[in-house]
Amino acid sequence: MMVPLFLVPLLCFPFYSSAKRNDRPVVGVLAQEVYSSQSSYIAASYVKFLEAAGARVVPVMINQTLEEYQTLFNSINGILYPGGGVSIISSGYERAAKIFYDLAIEANKRGDYFPVWGTCLGFEQLMYLTSGKSLLTHTDTSGVSLPLDFTNETSNSRMFKGFPVDLMKDLASEPLTENSHTWSLASLTYNTNEDLKTFYKVLSTNTDGETQFVSTVEAYEYPIYATQWHPEKNAFEWTRPYIPHTPSAIRTTFYMAEFFVSEARKNFHSFASEEGENKALIYNYNPVYTGNHSAFEQIYLF
Ligand SMILES: *[C@@H]1O[C@H](CO)[C@@H](O)[C@H](O)[C@H]1NC(C)=O
Ligand SMILES: *[C@@H]1O[C@H](CO)[C@@H](O)[C@H](O)[C@H]1NC(C)=O
Ligand SMILES: *[C@@H]1O[C@H](CO)[C@@H](O)[C@H](O)[C@H]1NC(C)=O
Repeated sequence: MMVPLFLVPLLCFPFYSSAKRNDRPVVGVLAQEVYSSQSSYIAASYVKFLEAAGARVVPVMINQTLEEYQTLFNSINGILYPGGGVSIISSGYERAAKIFYDLAIEANKRGDYFPVWGTCLGFEQLMYLTSGKSLLTHTDTSGVSLPLDFTNETSNSRMFKGFPVDLMKDLASEPLTENSHTWSLASLTYNTNEDLKTFYKVLSTNTDGETQFVSTVEAYEYPIYATQWHPEKNAFEWTRPYIPHTPSAIRTTFYMAEFFVSEARKNFHSFASEEGENKALIYNYNPVYTGNHSAFEQIYLF
């Protein structure tokens, strides 16, 4: 039997181009445990990254109750899972990341556009949350900047479509993307995992010389994005010699941030009161200088 075309639901997911826009986006940045201590932290470069593109930041603390996370989810316009060194299977970071991931999937299905970004560990966390499996492969990629090997999907991606042509050319030919990871999602693993393959479109890959791995993805049907590399470091971190600071490297930081914040402007969650918003914002905390003994110039300690 022929199904009349107009009965087929063409829009199964909520990408819309609307005149409506939230010009005061607030983005959550997830904290994580400080190794062998009772505290948690956020590297300040993630905060600067988002602020530079016109967002304000709210720290998402670990160890909060589900109810507190639900309230916060309904108050913010997107969330970023930073890089770092905690477990993606069992940590306060993982627990919060899973709660927000599940809330984001559910919200987006309802037409409540809520973007999620993962960087480095955040990328690995998203792969774990989507597949339900630990699928990473060891790679020799700790402290190296690489050009992106773009796939043929890049040109019709949401992420890169607003990038200037000359920057895309530089990203493909110059080492503008900094990698600080020892685990990666091998292209071979992605290609043989139905859950990942149907959920994420691969926009770039890289190799350590032996293993080709996935380095940039966007979800097909959700505003979920991840890079195994660090867009925020180029402009804001100086303690390691392999972080690129060329004009194209700095533009990479800003175009990535601009893209994600423009996604957050499509969300209309808000705090119940201005007072509640003021109490949640990162301005209630002072970053401390740590450039002398860590890979970060400044961190927020909680
Ligand atoms: C989070 O909870 C764990 C387990 O109860 C505890 O060991 C840790 O110190 C807490 N961390 C923070 C930053 O609250
Ligand atoms: C990209 O290449 C793959 C593998 O060669 C192919 O299956 C896919 O259809 C191509 N996609 C586009 C958008 O051209
Ligand atoms: C960084 O370390 C050097 C050498 O230990 C010290 O002289 C300097 O005061 C430190 N800088 C800051 C801002 O702590």
